[in-house]
Amino acid sequence: MKFEDVKTIGCLGGGIMGGGIAQVFAIAGYDVIVRDISDDAINATRHAICDSKWGVKRAVERGKLAFDDALAAMERVSYTTDVAGLKDVDIVIEAIPEKLELKQQVFGEIDSVVKPEAIFASNTSGFCIQDIAQGVSDARKPKFIGMHFSNPVPTMRMLEVIYTPENTDEVIDAAKRLGEAAGKAVSMVKDTPGTYGFLLNRIFGAAAREARLIAEQGIASKEDIDKAMITGRNWPSAFFGSRGGIGKEW
Ligand SMILES: NC(=O)c1ccc[n+]([C@@H]2O[C@H](COP(=O)([O-])OP(=O)(O)OC[C@H]3O[C@@H](n4cnc5c(N)ncnc54)[C@H](O)[C@@H]3O)[C@@H](O)[C@H]2O)c1
Repeated sequence: MKFEDVKTIGCLGGGIMGGGIAQVFAIAGYDVIVRDISDDAINATRHAICDSKWGVKRAVERGKLAFDDALAAMERVSYTTDVAGLKDVDIVIEAIPEKLELKQQVFGEIDSVVKPEAIFASNTSGFCIQDIAQGVSDARKPKFIGMHFSNPVPTMRMLEVIYTPENTDEVIDAAKRLGEAAGKAVSMVKDTPGTYGFLLNRIFGAAAREARLIAEQGIASKEDIDKAMITGRNWPSAFFGSRGGIGKEW
């Protein structure tokens, strides 16, 4: 599957990340099908794309998106609880809960449903991509890649593309250029068995460990640690207060 041939994107799982991923690709002009497990989950995702703090309605109010473009984007997203709804998508981007066995099982389930040439991508926060790919057939493994977005997806530009030794150049290129088409700043990361967190979460985790140690040893208070990182490194937030990046708005 070449970048140029990708027209329809399947989001496996709505929720916080799946909804955001659906939204940015719909705004970028792609048709998107969101597959979730219940009507309630689907309604929540539909509502988030339209009305949440990072939804298209507020983007229009803030002058970030034209009204007609917002309307067109919402119309490009369809929803299903049926796995078969994903059969013709060109790429599946998975954003179901962070449980390795669940991801393996659900990818295994869709492997025989989704057309063979489609790319499979996981938005896992840090599991080894080759471990998740254990759930699919050997034929799919060259097309199985990581695409780790940051929350909230509509406003955070970061995307890690995590490539495995089995990926074809075509698949790596498609994942990278799709991210760029959705306005993301793409960092390429080598999939590394035995690690968790790729680049972003490993570095943040290391810094958070140091911050906890400094607080535990009474070297500085939690408030002063956060204050230093926010005012000295321009972090939008630090370790002990609100979640990093989460407050960034349209
Ligand atoms: N929330 C974040 O800040 C963040 C950031 C980056 C990456 N991630 C990763 O993204 C993934 C999703 O996280 P989230 O925060 O969006 O979770 P979430 O709970 O908001 O959404 C998960 C969605 O998956 C659905 N789901 C569960 N089983 C399913 C199945 N079998 N088929 C289809 N849908 C199913 C749920 O109904 C729910 O709507 C996780 O792997 C997480 O680690 C999260």
